[in-house]
Amino acid sequence: MATTEHAGTEHAGTEHAGTEHAPATPPNLNWEGFDFETRQVHAGEYPDLNTGLRVPPIALSAGYVFEDFDDQVDRFAGRSIDPIYSRQGNPTNSVAEARLASLEGGSVSVAVSSGQAAISSALFTLAQGGDHIVSTASIYGGTRILFGRSLKRFGIEVDYVWDAEDDAEWDRAIRPTTKAIYTETIPNPRNDVTDLRRIAAVAARHNLPLIVDNTVGSPALIRPFEHGANIVVHSTTKFLTGHGAAVGGAIVDGGNFDWEAAERAGRSFPLITAVKPGLGSMVDRFGTGAYARAAREAVVNDIGPTLSPFNGFLLHQGMETLSLRMERHVESSLEIATWLEQQPSVAAVDYAGLPSSPLYELAARDYGIAASGAGARTGSVFGVTVRGGIDGARAFVDGLSVFSRMTGIGDTRSMVIHPLSSTHATFEPEINDRLGITPGLLRLSIGLESPRDLIADLAQALAGVPTAG
Ligand SMILES: Cc1ncc(COP(=O)(O)O)c(C=O)c1O
Repeated sequence: MATTEHAGTEHAGTEHAGTEHAPATPPNLNWEGFDFETRQVHAGEYPDLNTGLRVPPIALSAGYVFEDFDDQVDRFAGRSIDPIYSRQGNPTNSVAEARLASLEGGSVSVAVSSGQAAISSALFTLAQGGDHIVSTASIYGGTRILFGRSLKRFGIEVDYVWDAEDDAEWDRAIRPTTKAIYTETIPNPRNDVTDLRRIAAVAARHNLPLIVDNTVGSPALIRPFEHGANIVVHSTTKFLTGHGAAVGGAIVDGGNFDWEAAERAGRSFPLITAVKPGLGSMVDRFGTGAYARAAREAVVNDIGPTLSPFNGFLLHQGMETLSLRMERHVESSLEIATWLEQQPSVAAVDYAGLPSSPLYELAARDYGIAASGAGARTGSVFGVTVRGGIDGARAFVDGLSVFSRMTGIGDTRSMVIHPLSSTHATFEPEINDRLGITPGLLRLSIGLESPRDLIADLAQALAGVPTAG
């Protein structure tokens, strides 16, 4: 195994793009520049020269052999970045990391054990006790809980901007101690897509990195770095792994934030810019991968949310079919949302891809139009409000038989949940009112079953819901 220092920007656009670790054997090709569909199958793979295995195998080893005494010394001193222990990285997970970095168009990615681990590790790399984050208000319920409970306990405060279009509200919320702006591409349950370019302009004006959770969009539908984001996080549990079997997460470094310029403008990011004697800063050593390296070395390694290589395998394999699955998720969602809109027992459908949505113009601009022409490609997680409030919601949920009653999204299976009594159950009523989480609102995640069967299931469940009220 090579013991050379992987300094500077050599990761971006090279054979090793997407991971700092040299794979055990060299990749057969640099996949950068190939189409998305080719990269989702090949990026990050490496041939196993010992066995000829075509599919990157599951590397179940907690540690790595040092070549000799000095190699061990160099790895522990940080002079070599060859792996020490699987808590910091693993060849199976490296395939997934490189593939995801390539699909998102980032420099380097770090795989972790869950989406929550990705969000918290991404933020801990930038913020510490006394610091501050500003987030859009419409975000995943679990993230709102993380911000209001664990981050708060660690002294990191989060403020919300309710009208992301209002630059003055952003300017009022941002403080000298603010370390990042946080948002999501397609917030659930209401599919209220975010205008990333607008928020990226606010972040740039304040010398702040923009972190975007792209779990619900996936890089097959939107690549936040193309819209000005600096860091992307994922719950890979969802569309990326794709089959509802494995919890995982990932952080992707866009390699496009100037940490030193931000420091000069008064924002400090010590894990990234502090100079280590004899080594330099993360920026000196890892260039466009500096943030990812700091996340891996100083946060993920310390706290320990390691992705199992087994789940890493399911992740890199799941990504091979991402674009195909997403197209089907979108077409089915458009067909179903269009049908739902016309049902008398449905009060509202929140799907930005529908031409009737107030967000349609933005959705069409950023997500493009589906091949069928039925609407814009805003994923497959959306809200439907049935008539009759909580009783209507109960009748609808209990009447479904193809849809699974469960928490989760982005599975091959279609799922339904009642947000007010589940993901949003712990929030103050006024917060839920502002977020539009009403008693009759259900979240649907449309899977890969036949849309005809799904519509039939929805139709028979809606038969038990009042047509007024
Ligand atoms: C948008 C979003 N981000 C993060 C998470 C958390 O991911 P995980 O369940 O993998 O921890 C979820 C989970 O539903 C999610 O929907």
